[in-house]
Parts: sequence; C-alpha cells; structure tokens
Amino acid sequence: MIRLLTFRQIGLGLMAAVIFVACNNGDSQQNKAHQQNDPNQMTIRDPHSFAEPHKAEVKHLDLEIAVDFDQKVIHGVATYEIKNKSGAGNIVFDTRGLTINRVTTGERFDSTDWLLGDEVAYLGQPLVVNIGPYTQWVHIEYTTSPGAQALQWLDPQQTAGKRHPFLFTQSQAILARTWMPCQDGPGIRFTYTANVKVPKSLLAVMSASNPQAKNGTGEYYFEMKQPIPSYLMALAVGDIEFQAIDDRTGVYAEPELLQKAAYEFDDMDEMLIAAEKLYGPYRWERYDVIVLPPSFPFGGMENPRLTFATPTIIAGDRSLTALIAHELAHSWSGNLVTNATWDDFWLNEGFTVYFEKRIMEEIYGEPYVQMLSMLGFQDLEADVKDIGPKHDDTKLKLNLKDRDPDEGMTNIAYEKGSLFLKTVENIVGREKFDAFLKEYFEHFAFKTMTSEKFVAYLNEKLIQNDKELAKKIDIDAWVFGPGIPDNAVLATSDRFEQVERSLADWQQGTPAKDLKADEWSTHEWLHFIRHLPDDLDAAKMNELDEAFGFTQSGNSEILCVWFEHVIEQQHQSAYGALEEFLITVGRRKFLRPLYAALAKTEDGLEMGRSIYQKARPNYHAVSTGTIDEILNWETL
Ligand code: BES
Ligand code: ZN
Repeated sequence: MIRLLTFRQIGLGLMAAVIFVACNNGDSQQNKAHQQNDPNQMTIRDPHSFAEPHKAEVKHLDLEIAVDFDQKVIHGVATYEIKNKSGAGNIVFDTRGLTINRVTTGERFDSTDWLLGDEVAYLGQPLVVNIGPYTQWVHIEYTTSPGAQALQWLDPQQTAGKRHPFLFTQSQAILARTWMPCQDGPGIRFTYTANVKVPKSLLAVMSASNPQAKNGTGEYYFEMKQPIPSYLMALAVGDIEFQAIDDRTGVYAEPELLQKAAYEFDDMDEMLIAAEKLYGPYRWERYDVIVLPPSFPFGGMENPRLTFATPTIIAGDRSLTALIAHELAHSWSGNLVTNATWDDFWLNEGFTVYFEKRIMEEIYGEPYVQMLSMLGFQDLEADVKDIGPKHDDTKLKLNLKDRDPDEGMTNIAYEKGSLFLKTVENIVGREKFDAFLKEYFEHFAFKTMTSEKFVAYLNEKLIQNDKELAKKIDIDAWVFGPGIPDNAVLATSDRFEQVERSLADWQQGTPAKDLKADEWSTHEWLHFIRHLPDDLDAAKMNELDEAFGFTQSGNSEILCVWFEHVIEQQHQSAYGALEEFLITVGRRKFLRPLYAALAKTEDGLEMGRSIYQKARPNYHAVSTGTIDEILNWETL
C-alpha cells in the first residue's frame, strides 16, 4: 500500500488517486500479470512505470527547457497533449528527483489538483494529475535535481576542448523521468517539439531535427515527428560542431575530435544503404552520430536521428565501427518496433546484434562477421557461466519486476537473442527469413512488441503448423528456457584458427616477435589476448608487450582485455597506463571487468579504490552505480 508523501492541494480527486496509485503498486495484480502472457491482450503491465496508459495516455509533448550549467539543473515546462481514453479522473506520470512547481490543464492553464506519490526504489514517484473527461492539455512546470541520474554535467576540463562545459542525457532504460516528467515506459509513444535555451557559446542537439551550427542566440528549436517512447528522449549541449558525411549522414563532435570522427565513420552512409536494402526504408529522415566526451557510460545509444557514441570507438583504423552499424540497426529494431517492457529487452538488442552483423557482412564480408560472431559467443558463454546455466536470467524473456531493469542488460539479450535469430535463419534459409523480418518491421512499425506476440507472429508467418520445423527451431527453449539451446548455430572463423595456431606456436617456444601477426585486425588481437594462458609470468608479459605494444595501444577494446591480464599478473609497468585509462574512460563495459579484476585480491582492491577515488567524479551515475557495488564503495 502506498503512502502519500507530498501533495500541494487537496481536492475531490485525491481519494481516487490514492486508490489508483495504491492499486498501481499493489501485489494484487495477478490478473494483469496473467494478461502479459497473452499475445492478443493489448493491455500490458509495465512493472517499471507508474503510468496507466490504457486510461489516459500522452500523445505529444511540447517541451520548453532552460539549461543552467551554474546550478547544474534544467528548468522546464512540459506541455502534454493527452488522450483520456476512459473518462479517467487523472493521468499519471513518472518522475524521479524532480521538483514539481506548478501543474495546470487546458488551453487556459486552469489550476488542477495534483500530487506526488511515495518514492519507490528505482522507480521514483508517480505524479498524479486530476483531469476531466475532455482535458486535452497538461502543463507541468518542473526543475531537475543536481543528482538527476540521466544527466551528466561535465566541467570544461572533462571535455576535449577544455574551454566549455558539456551536458548529455542518457534516458534508457528508466532515467528519462529524472529530467522530465513523462509516461516512462517503452510501450508509450509520443511526438515532440522542444525549445531549448543554453549558453550562447554552446550548441544543443536532440533526438529530433537538429541545427548544424550555433546561431548565436543559444535558443534552439527541435521537432520529432515520428512517435517515440520516452527512453529515446535525448539532449546534448556543448561546444559541438557538425561535419557532413553524405546527404543524409553526418557527425557532431567537439571541434578537436571532428576530423577524426568523420574519418572513422566514413562508411556510415554505406551502412544505411545496406540496412535499407535488408529491412526497408529508413523512417527517420537523417542519421547523424554525436561523439560525446569519454565519460559517456555506454558504447552507443540509439537516440533517433542522432546516435550518441563514446569516443573510445575512434581507433583511427575504423575497426570498431560495428557499433555504428548496431546503433543504426536500432532505427528498425527498437526505435521502430519497440520492446513492450524491459522484460522483452532481447527484442531490441538481440534483433539489433543480428541486424548489425548483417550490415557488416554486406560491407566487410563474411570472414569479418565470423569473427564478430565468435567474440559474441565467447561473451555469451561467459555470462551464462556467470549467471548460471539454469538461472531464469538466462532466458530471453526476463522477469525484472521489483528490480532495476539494468539487471537485464547482459549478453543474454544481445548474444543469445541474436544467436536465436541466426539459428532460425539457418533452419528456414536466409531468403525466407529476410522476407519475414522485412514484413515484421513493416507490419509493426511504430508499435510495441512482446516476446509472446513475436512468437505468435513467427508461428503464423514462418512455421505455419509445420510440426517438424517447429521442433527443429524449438522456440520455447530459446525464448522461455534457460541457457544455450542445443540447436544453436555456432560460428567458425578461419582467421581465428590462424590466431590459435600462432598462440600455440608461441606457447611452444616461437618468440612473440616472430609470430606472423602483421596483418591482424583488432578482432584477431582480441581473440589472441582473450586466449592467453593464465600462467603468464613477468617475462612473458614483457615479451608480449615489447613485441606488440599492447600497453601503448590506442585501441580501447585491446587495452581493456590486455589490462585484465595486467591486473591478474600484477604487471606493474602497465599500471600507469591502466590508471590513466580508468580515469579518462567512463564506459561501463570497460570499467566493470577491470574493477572486478582488481577487486579479486586485497592489493588489487586497494589499488582499485585509490584509482576510483580519483576517477569517480568523472563517471556518469550509470557507471558509479555499478562500480560502487563492485568496490563496496558506500561502506568505506
Ligand atoms: N541501447 C543500448 C544501450 C543501453 C541499453 C543503454 C540498456 C541503457 C540500457 C545500445 O544500443 C547498446 O547496446 N550499446 C552497446 C554497444 C553495442 C555495440 C553492443 C554498448 O554501449 O556497449
Ligand atoms: Zn543496442
């Protein structure tokens, strides 16, 4: 039962709201939980949102915000056009850490009753606003808190140029509610416009139509015409410039990085063409990428029209651009057909990894993708082992109720998901499967998908009562069963076999410098370093480092796997580089294994904590949340 913490005005609607909110959070939701398993039932309970969209749902947002770098807050007015579907007495929004200053309704800004419910772990507080049966507009004046988890405020010294501050958002999975009141579930879509006010020397960009240069006023207007879920709301503000790659594609970055970024992502337009050839027209008009400062906690984020990316994929040799293919692929899998709740996260990420590889295959050929697939499978095996092969969290369909949806962000969704699709492709044949997927994206464009609905569609369109085929694919084992099913199609790679032969040669005495590795790509190096034996001694570590210069590598992926050995073998000559890496890079994928490796020994833990002390102020809340836990930081 929920208790009310704060309410500004008491009115007639209060009792209804209390019951409503209590019911929303109560455990007596079994009938609704049951509905979730019925693909034909359109009402889906999202365990991570307070919103009740089947009663009253947002349709469009007009956002007016001012970005205050001094106070590290955003002041905003969110005006929502809503649809009251059931004559409901109120509409419910998600908020977390927001101060709500005023709420009004209608074209004349009529005052109305509203209240903030009790705080719930991870979810924040419901904002319940009283409405009438014909209320069309709700205006919410609010201010974010300086600790808003979606926002990272960077001081000038944390940027490439060192002269201007920087701000970026990260809304996925349920952090949009920390920078604007919203119905924060992936199943609810709305269009938006925004007026954003920033310091005159900075440029603002969003997941919308974007300016390509500063205009001197610091005021920018944005429009997103296609309906999107709240987790794709995004904003970045900084000393940002634009460079075109092609007519439809381009790169935003700080001026210091712009040339390098444009070189690195030169194939972007080709990727877009390859993607359209596979699954139909790109529905978002432009596709641009913004390269953020290195504290960005993810590799990439598929904000529509404008992917947010880490600078750690700029390796200088275009070897890490599969990430761009991945985020671009989300323009179909995720942004167009969207997981209904975070329990269905694999529908976003598994499809996207599969699609990413298809794009890469088109441009760089099969041997390249075989390497990507094998590295992905290694990641999958490691996570299955880690989580436990019989554990519910190794199922594609997850149950994240009462948990942080972040816990579902494992290689299960990504790699088991894509392996499932690859396996189906293999069984039914590529031509048939491609036609199926193209139709799937077309049919469900701008709609929401559950695992159950996808399974029903797969049965209807592809399996069509063919019992033998159904048995061969074994959907249930893949989607609702744990571990890696027996019929998984495993990749092989000639190039990796050659790497393995070289590794064996080295272990049998061939000096590292004589291994024929001149032509190896990043992926071959990753395979090599991942498979180095556990019993490396100082002499062997030195030999490898002298021959191949791992510690000095400019490639973040290579550095990360190498540093894991450095930590394990206490290879002290690389400690300086390790510390520097951990202090500059905030990408959680790298931080997690490195701090975890450090935490394994007492000395390592001490070193990890001392580095973290210096590095922590540079990290985004998404990353500190994870690393605090690994290092037991709060208890210090
Ligand atoms: N959408 C994800 C990032 C994400 C997932 C953020 C869940 C918050 C919650 C993005 O598309 C992604 O998967 N990024 C990966 C890169 C990709 C190449 C596997 C990353 O950031 O490492
Ligand atoms: Zn993704």
